[in-house]
Amino acid sequence: MADASTSTHPDAAREAAVEKALAALGLDDKARLLAGQDMWSLPALPAVGLRSLVMSDGPIGVRGVAWSADDPSVALPSPTALAATWDPALARRAGRLLAQEARRKGVHVLLAPTVNLHRSPLGGRHFETYSEDPYLTGEIGTGYVRGVQDGGVGTTVKHFVANDAETDRFTVDNVVAPRALREIYLAPFERIVRNARPWGIMSAYNRVNGPTMTEHRYLQNAVLRGEWGFDGFVVSDWLAARSTVGAALGGLDVAMPGPKTVYGKALADAVRAGEVEESVVDGAVRNVLRLAARVGVLDGAPPVVDPAGHPATVDGDALAREIARRSFVLVRNEPAGRTEDSGDHTTGETPAALPIDPAAVRRVALSGALARDARVLGGGSAQVFPHHVVTPLDGLAAALPDGVLDYRVGADPNDELVPAGKGFGLRAVCRDASGTVIGSAPLHDGTLQWIGDDLPEGVTRANLHSVEITGTFVPRDSGEHVFGTRGTGELTLAVAGETLYDEIHRVVSADPGEAFFGNPLERGRITLAAGEPVEVSLRQVPETLGDDAPVLGVSFALCHLGPRRDPAELIAEAVDAARDADIAIVVVGTTERVESEGFDRTGLALPGHQDDLVRAVAAVNPNTVVVVNSGSPVELPWREEVAAVLLGWFPGQEAGHALADVLLGAEEPGGRLPTTWPVALADVPVSNTTPTDGKLSYDEGVFVGYPAWERAGTAPAYPFGHGLGYTTWEYEGIDAGPDGATVHLRNTGTRPGAETVQLYLAPRDAAADRPARRLAGFARVEAGPGESVRAEIRIERRAYEIWDEEAYGWRFLPGTYEVRAARSVDDVRLTAVVDVRAADVP
Ligand code: BGC
Repeated sequence: MADASTSTHPDAAREAAVEKALAALGLDDKARLLAGQDMWSLPALPAVGLRSLVMSDGPIGVRGVAWSADDPSVALPSPTALAATWDPALARRAGRLLAQEARRKGVHVLLAPTVNLHRSPLGGRHFETYSEDPYLTGEIGTGYVRGVQDGGVGTTVKHFVANDAETDRFTVDNVVAPRALREIYLAPFERIVRNARPWGIMSAYNRVNGPTMTEHRYLQNAVLRGEWGFDGFVVSDWLAARSTVGAALGGLDVAMPGPKTVYGKALADAVRAGEVEESVVDGAVRNVLRLAARVGVLDGAPPVVDPAGHPATVDGDALAREIARRSFVLVRNEPAGRTEDSGDHTTGETPAALPIDPAAVRRVALSGALARDARVLGGGSAQVFPHHVVTPLDGLAAALPDGVLDYRVGADPNDELVPAGKGFGLRAVCRDASGTVIGSAPLHDGTLQWIGDDLPEGVTRANLHSVEITGTFVPRDSGEHVFGTRGTGELTLAVAGETLYDEIHRVVSADPGEAFFGNPLERGRITLAAGEPVEVSLRQVPETLGDDAPVLGVSFALCHLGPRRDPAELIAEAVDAARDADIAIVVVGTTERVESEGFDRTGLALPGHQDDLVRAVAAVNPNTVVVVNSGSPVELPWREEVAAVLLGWFPGQEAGHALADVLLGAEEPGGRLPTTWPVALADVPVSNTTPTDGKLSYDEGVFVGYPAWERAGTAPAYPFGHGLGYTTWEYEGIDAGPDGATVHLRNTGTRPGAETVQLYLAPRDAAADRPARRLAGFARVEAGPGESVRAEIRIERRAYEIWDEEAYGWRFLPGTYEVRAARSVDDVRLTAVVDVRAADVP
């Protein structure tokens, strides 16, 4: 069909196509379009030239419509890592790669980015969000959304709003005062909506000050659309829409997943019953059609990005590696054996532990189970299935000469059941009620997730009765092996001819995550010999095939845990290897049972015997470097007993290569902390995530993150913004005015480097209810040895404003301000004083 785009502005051409399609739709079709047809998509309406819109998680890769490794995805580092780069331009490049991945997988909308705040480090999805600072969160999110949309793919900025923890996430009422809501929790959404114009927003599970978010008229209609001018679609978080009329009037456009939702027929009925005006439905349909037009699935509408104009192909492996090394935060780097922390001295007489000179090392002792079984991404809906994972062991082995690297497990925190992996060769066999095989499919591991009607050939929800995960297992170690299951229904587990479990297991949970990442349960133990294959089988008669299941499909897992070795013996082996090595590298971190979706953390200590391992290795080798593999803060009680500490986040699929780049000095670590790193949980000023009587009070108001630490007067282990490189910088001058500053600095070290210059604004006469300083801007600069460089940083008007509850608006606070150029919130290098009046700042 010819479109009007040649003669009209594309926005107008899209709006015309949207109105035309809308006018041609009857009430039933309109209501149907607002309800998921399955787990990930909306129905096509061929009569008006509309194809099905497909959505997918998000945020570190594009999983696609299958929950398996059948169609692998590039896995970038965790969102905390992306934020640690402090580089919106890099986030934009990540977004462009994700758009490319989405197009490859037929996905039109990415369910990302997650821009909730690091209110408490106990938040289970802390790894999936960016920062404790709303400005940094908003800037990284803006880059990300722009990048995805540059590639013609939509985003849903999520979860709107105040979904900052997981405990009781379906019901919790987060009680947030208007100022904190505006200045902290809404701020990243507002910034992204205004600056990147996202095509979608995801409405959260929780309540805010009473109403549940999918029905929140004030926040969704008045603030998001009314005040900010958002013109995209609002989609529910998965199963978050509970009421047809409430959600329709509350500004929710689409209820996901389907086919059982509160929209569709129920919405058409509500219109016929006079409970919802048809114009409300029309408004929602218009928003969905506009999205369809933007991504190019509505005939007659020119997509925002012409397929011919898609950005050049991005090398996903190379980008994953670059983001990882630029996200690693070197928080400590001392010469071997020095115990006091003297700050930044990467030059000087005794060289710091890092970088390692590969030509000068004879032996490198590597330990930690996570060096071998790297945890490269966080759990829950943020999971994708990468084509390959380069572990720290692989990466260092590839980068060091043969015979230099000596690896010992040392400590293994994975002491809980996980889906059967190494040593298992598995497939799925489907049978009908008579026991006849009707189809089968290969499996990459013990996890089976078939969503909706996405079933193997020959299998339908009608003819399927049971599914068996079956195959062989060749144990790596002799001893007692533990087997378990995840999922519900009738489950029968047999290993080596012995039935370990045969019962019906039911879980009543409203959380859709339960089927995908609920806790595995132990079902039996059996002694096996290393290298001797045994048959394994887990058969399920699923309960989720009928039309009344909340999420349709088949989802269960065969889980396993290998024999546990004596922790003291493991540590002793690693200590022996470390004793004679030139350098000892210990990789420590969290497990899937610590950082994931659907639950919060209970503590910040490293699981298992990892702290003991670090201490024991450091006691015999003064040149010990610890790499922390966690998505969010953990306690590092030994941090001053080791030479260097590198925070590596969940580093994505190229983990090991990026780590070798940085440890061996080919690149410098580029990250700065996007969140304050505590010494211990007890010191954290805001930590509670457990509601009382259904309510979680954000009593701290605007004092979240470093303002809270400052008010409490407690010193963290590492402050917000901290991070070392491999060169040194002299801050030589600052020219500041109300609307920005130019910072002059020089690379005074011996190698090229990059610096993240941070600008904090501190009112001279801050009232007690106002943080003493806030991040107002930042810039990344690069310079060669001896070179000087200028960082130009703009300060926006909003940096001088607070939300005035009485006046219901932003209030500009004139006065005298210090503009501080800093390396972290606690490491101020230069200060300028400016007098600011409202007229001075555009
Ligand atoms: C998560 C969302 C996710 C959705 C779909 C929900 O449980 O909260 O972030 O996009 O599932 O997987």
